[in-house]
Amino acid sequence: MFRSKIEKNNEGIYDFGLNNEVTKKVNNFYEPLPFPNYSKDDDKRKILDIGNKNYLSQNFKKFIGYGKTVLEVGSGTSQLSIYLAVNTNNKICAFDGTYNSLKQGKLFCEKENIKNVDFVRGDLFENLFENNYFDYIWCSGVLHHTKNPKKGFENIIRFLKVNGYVLVGLYNRYGRILTVLRQLVCKLFGEKILFFLDPYLRLLKKNKEKNKDKINSWINDQYLHPVESLHTIDEVLKWFKENNIEYYTSIPSCDFEKISKDDEKNFNLQDSKGDFFLRLFRQIQMIFTRLGKEGGLFIVIGKKL
Ligand SMILES: C[S@@+](CC[C@H](N)C(=O)[O-])C[C@H]1O[C@@H](n2cnc3c(N)ncnc32)[C@H](O)[C@@H]1O
Repeated sequence: MFRSKIEKNNEGIYDFGLNNEVTKKVNNFYEPLPFPNYSKDDDKRKILDIGNKNYLSQNFKKFIGYGKTVLEVGSGTSQLSIYLAVNTNNKICAFDGTYNSLKQGKLFCEKENIKNVDFVRGDLFENLFENNYFDYIWCSGVLHHTKNPKKGFENIIRFLKVNGYVLVGLYNRYGRILTVLRQLVCKLFGEKILFFLDPYLRLLKKNKEKNKDKINSWINDQYLHPVESLHTIDEVLKWFKENNIEYYTSIPSCDFEKISKDDEKNFNLQDSKGDFFLRLFRQIQMIFTRLGKEGGLFIVIGKKL
């Protein structure tokens, strides 16, 4: 799997360390409050339940099937990696720069006896893995927190096999407008006001004591992040084109047929990517849907040719 020989350290993690200053800055930000945080009562069943209720993770897991290699880039505490691993024989690699996040994921796997996840600490801009190794790469919520998202993308797809699939999730230039406005209000009036303005925080607040760490890590990640950029579907399509990746599907969908038939949840069909105006419209529409309310993340999936 790796380019160079490395042994697990005594905490069971492959640790390549970090050399770049921006990466160090971002990862120092997550060390005290790993994202996404576990609740005290989280167990294997609960992770499965959360993943199965999420349309994207549930469908992606089905899409992967069995006997595959999967790299999650920027896995944080690796809840998605763990979800993809449970009850499958897939080999999952949870890769992140923040040691403390990976350690939480590793401890969770030990507690729950999950054996098919490897934990790797390193910088996604480095060339740590073999070329053409993984069948699937999932990288969501990560590249917009790096110094050069496009370059990061180009680096990670080297590790993807031909005919393998890559999923990219980024903050949307239009869909994140509500969060950007809340960031400004938070700067002016302080963090407390977020409990009125942010729907996810309002939900977590209902059980404030239990969700204390989750609340802090959400505020940290969404409102106080030192490095953040905004992107569009068209920008990702350009990255795809330049790197020989064929568009497969996106959330929000830009396939007129699917949208008009209210069939957006049909994940296993290759979509049309629509035209520029439909894509623009769908991204502006995000502001008024759950996607916009929960941070404005959009997803594009492609296949390496
Ligand atoms: C917002 S969290 C997302 C975690 C997870 N993907 C999710 O969606 O819940 C971003 C993660 O990206 C990681 N990250 C940022 N820059 C990185 C880099 N250059 N190399 C490796 N990981 C990085 C951070 O350590 C952090 O855990």
